[in-house]
Amino acid sequence: MRIVLLGPPGVGKGTQGRRLATERGRALISTGDMLRDAVAKKTPLGLQAKQLMDEGKLVSDELIVGLVRERSLESDAKDGFVLDGFPRTVPQAVALDAMLAERSIKLDGVVLLTAPDDELVRRLSSRWECPVCRRVYNAQTAPSKDGRHCDDHPETELRQRADDAVETVKKRLEVYQSQTAPLVDFYRSGGRLKEVRGMGPLDEVYAALSSAVGD
Ligand code: AP5
Repeated sequence: MRIVLLGPPGVGKGTQGRRLATERGRALISTGDMLRDAVAKKTPLGLQAKQLMDEGKLVSDELIVGLVRERSLESDAKDGFVLDGFPRTVPQAVALDAMLAERSIKLDGVVLLTAPDDELVRRLSSRWECPVCRRVYNAQTAPSKDGRHCDDHPETELRQRADDAVETVKKRLEVYQSQTAPLVDFYRSGGRLKEVRGMGPLDEVYAALSSAVGD
């Protein structure tokens, strides 16, 4: 199973992608998480990406494609993966198709998650994440057991992401419309797009996603 989860910031790609990858025994490849780990470790990639991420802008296609190329060759991704946050531009999508064709494999599908902008802004302003495992919580709708620490890392305090500040979220939504939304037509015209409404209880969204992905 090789799936792309597409959709605007805060729609639930990470939340649902993590569950899908775990339940199907596939690798979750989240370019956002990989970049945030690089920023935290102050690697050359992290130093390059930090300012762009803090401003809500995209990191260069070349850099991201190289990152995904390497990550998708790791042993846990051999039998398939769920891509969260990649591709995000048409050139990245073209590069992904070429990369998979080189390996004589292809995508099984692309699922677009949707939700209205005001809901996205609301979700991101109350999102908290674990800096160790990147598990995502929501103070309003999906808090951790004690509301402050990660359920899987009880010693670790949850944090808010720097790019979840209101002004940065607005910028990210603009960037989504201008650079990522064209992917919807790219995949729709190739007959590869399925759409799932990302609203309502997490279990209901997951059931719709799982059925869209198929067996
Ligand atoms: P990235 O980390 O990919 O951010 P994003 O796409 O903006 O998506 P988010 O992680 O903000 O949201 P999500 O859809 O995963 O929602 P989540 O499940 O957390 O990218 C960050 C940055 O890295 C980019 O801005 C860019 O700079 C760079 N980058 C990354 N990839 C790149 C690429 N390919 N090319 C170039 N640059 C790249 O859910 C959000 C909240 O809502 C949570 O609190 C959750 O609990 C809650 N929630 C989820 N579902 C529901 C529901 N149904 N009802 C109520 N609450 C819900």
